[in-house]
Amino acid sequence: MAKRSPQFVCQACGNVTPRWAGRCEACGTWNSIVEEDAPAPVTAAGKTIGRGRVLELVPLSGEDEDAPRTPTGIAELDRVTGGGFVRGSAVLIGGDPGIGKSTLLIQAAARLADRGGKVVYISGEEAIGQVRLRASRVGLAQAKVGLGAETRIEDILATLQDSPPDLVVIDSIQTMWTDAADPSPGTVTQIRAVAQALIRFAKKSGTTVVLVGHVTKEGTIAGPRVVEHMVDAVLYFEGDSAHRFRILRSVKNRFGPTDEIGVFEMTGGGLEEVGNPSQLFLGERDAATPGAAVFAGMEGSRPLLVEIQALVAPSPLGTPRRAVVGWDSSRLSMVLAVLDAHCGLKLGGHDIYLNIAGGLRIAEPAADLAAAAALVSSLAQAPLPQGRVFFGEISLSGGVRPVPHAPARLREALKLGFEAAVAPKGNSEDGEKGDLPIESVETLAELVARIAA
Ligand code: TYD
Ligand code: MG
Repeated sequence: MAKRSPQFVCQACGNVTPRWAGRCEACGTWNSIVEEDAPAPVTAAGKTIGRGRVLELVPLSGEDEDAPRTPTGIAELDRVTGGGFVRGSAVLIGGDPGIGKSTLLIQAAARLADRGGKVVYISGEEAIGQVRLRASRVGLAQAKVGLGAETRIEDILATLQDSPPDLVVIDSIQTMWTDAADPSPGTVTQIRAVAQALIRFAKKSGTTVVLVGHVTKEGTIAGPRVVEHMVDAVLYFEGDSAHRFRILRSVKNRFGPTDEIGVFEMTGGGLEEVGNPSQLFLGERDAATPGAAVFAGMEGSRPLLVEIQALVAPSPLGTPRRAVVGWDSSRLSMVLAVLDAHCGLKLGGHDIYLNIAGGLRIAEPAADLAAAAALVSSLAQAPLPQGRVFFGEISLSGGVRPVPHAPARLREALKLGFEAAVAPKGNSEDGEKGDLPIESVETLAELVARIAA
């Protein structure tokens, strides 16, 4: 066999170059380029190119049934996938090592098997004994899940081909390898080839293939960014190990919503669903302290109450510290700038810490008002009035803008025993009779005056 010439492949984005470089010119990642053998050249020599087959085109207006789904029976998981795994689809579940991906999937596999589904779980990371140990820890030792500890894709596909299961879990994609690509497991070329083979199997057989992927510190699925583009859905399993809460979030979904979250709690006996997350997130709240505000947020179609905590203190440093956990730091800078420019609060010489309780991450602009309330309350050393929730977006001109889904936010806060909502004037007509009363604010300065008073 002719010697194959080497090529250089970026392990982050899969870009191929003929020369090594310290930084990938395609995605800009440093130190990600690795030498791999080029795939065997494909030549057309000796082959005749036939005339293309004439395709039969159909009108766009045809009727098709909804994608057939396989619900797992774990409501929080089914909510994120949009009602269950779509048959013949490939789903990537990413997350930090140790966050609970294997636990979630063995529980989902067992639930589905309980409901009569045919389920196969292939572990490339753990031996059979270890998987069994986990299953018995979460009380599922008797589940009818076919188990395999294998890493070679050809063997796995040969096993599945004859009677394709409803669901197969591949834990993890980084440990799998195929003869079809040369280099060692874990390289981009391998991961792409493995994913391709599994996705092809899913489409052909109607089996749902769930791929587990590890995430790098930067928050992308290690190496195979390419896999994210190939699969039908990408879910992230998040949370920090200091907290019991785990959040399943969909970042791509060809067949469902991308803004829903599923909330779980990691217990000694596996993951438990959290049907009412607000209760859990607020459960750890201290009595009224300065710097704590409850935000009435929305995650997808579900309202979620969460505490925003701020600490503002004079800084001994030349450049004061700004640290944010769970919120966008540029959003914090904007709120601080508005507090400075329109409310006369000079915070340039203060250290500022902002934290979303429970390890949750918030992306909604509607959190501005609650964050501002927490900051002002900490600065003034004055607890916020009891029994209030906050929501509203702050504009650069210092105004408080209305936000969507006000009725759902109000109802959730009422359900959890709150007495009033501090909310934009523009939302004050949204509440229905019997809803939580709104104490409306039109500008951020109004809110500051109320807290300081
Ligand atoms: P695991 O599912 O192995 O994580 P991943 O597959 O994402 O790497 O979960 C590992 C962690 O979860 C480990 O630190 C132990 C903890 N855990 C529990 O707290 N309770 C349980 O019932 C189980 C099975 C694990
Ligand atoms: Mg695992």
